[in-house]
Amino acid sequence: MTAQTQRPDLLIVGSVAFDTIETPFGNAEKALGGSATFAAIAASYFALPRIVAVVGEDFGAGSRHLFEERGVDLSGLQTIPGGKTFHWKGRYHQNMKDRDTLETRLNVFAGFDPELAVDLKKAPYVFLGNIGPSLQAKVLDQVEDARLIGLDTMNLWISEAAKDLEQVLRRVDVLFLNDEEAFQLTGEPLVLNASRKILAMGPKFVVIKRGEYGALLFGETLCLFVPAVPLGNVVDPTGAGDAFAGGFMGSMAAAGAVNRSTLSRALRVGTTMASFACESFSVNALSRLDPEKIDGRIAFLESMSAV
Ligand SMILES: Nc1ncnc2c1ncn2[C@@H]1O[C@H](COP(=O)(O)OP(=O)(O)OP(=O)(O)O)[C@@H](O)[C@H]1O
Ligand SMILES: [Mg+2]
Repeated sequence: MTAQTQRPDLLIVGSVAFDTIETPFGNAEKALGGSATFAAIAASYFALPRIVAVVGEDFGAGSRHLFEERGVDLSGLQTIPGGKTFHWKGRYHQNMKDRDTLETRLNVFAGFDPELAVDLKKAPYVFLGNIGPSLQAKVLDQVEDARLIGLDTMNLWISEAAKDLEQVLRRVDVLFLNDEEAFQLTGEPLVLNASRKILAMGPKFVVIKRGEYGALLFGETLCLFVPAVPLGNVVDPTGAGDAFAGGFMGSMAAAGAVNRSTLSRALRVGTTMASFACESFSVNALSRLDPEKIDGRIAFLESMSAV
């Protein structure tokens, strides 16, 4: 079942941002973005996302409303008086995959110091979005009795904060990264060998994403593959990785158990939510779904297998 009347709490820590995006086919100006945003909206169809992040005074009622409509808890969203929200500006190449960062203004995010309220510390499911590994560790220091902890990272932290990343990886259950990042982290070009090295670093499971070629999940005795949804119109792939992780973690929270069947369902849900993220700028498509649309696409993914 996709819709839950009593959704389990999923703590999501990450960035809430405004993104200005240029693609060969269109532009978006200061659209709602950030790792916590995409993850929370994707997860909201399965779990109760509770965001911990920081924004400035320019974060208006319209943006807040978008989260509230999806039932996302914003009690942990700090607003800095007089401050400005994190702003990222990027340009996609013709292949709609490679991109250049044109501008990164951290603004209030530069002083982000996540302090969890008592009720947030007790969240049974935790997703550490793509932020510095020392901040991710600071969140884990405050979390009590989490049943499943997911962590997303990227090339920047692998090269600039390797030691901190290594330490926080010992404390998480699921690591999300793409194949280039897996290679960068381990020095292993083959995903199977990279996954072995990553599992030896601490995580029980690693999800290695390969863009339009799908994703793999490895555990000690587990290897699962999911294809990507073939898309006829990729408007903006920003946030696909975050939506994948949010959908995956939301699905695991809704399932309440960790086994082959719940992990493979979470892979399908993550892939499905990532595909919706690609079909519009910002969370425009992702925030306007319903259980029928989501289930329809999951069923399509299942029907694709020729095995
Ligand atoms: N062109 C595409 N068509 C269909 N699905 C896609 C496409 N690009 C990405 N996805 C989906 O999004 C998922 C995550 O994308 P990707 O592999 O690019 O991760 P990532 O590099 O971590 O992304 P991000 O840059 O958002 O962090 C993929 O596993 C896939 O399901
Ligand atoms: Mg990523």
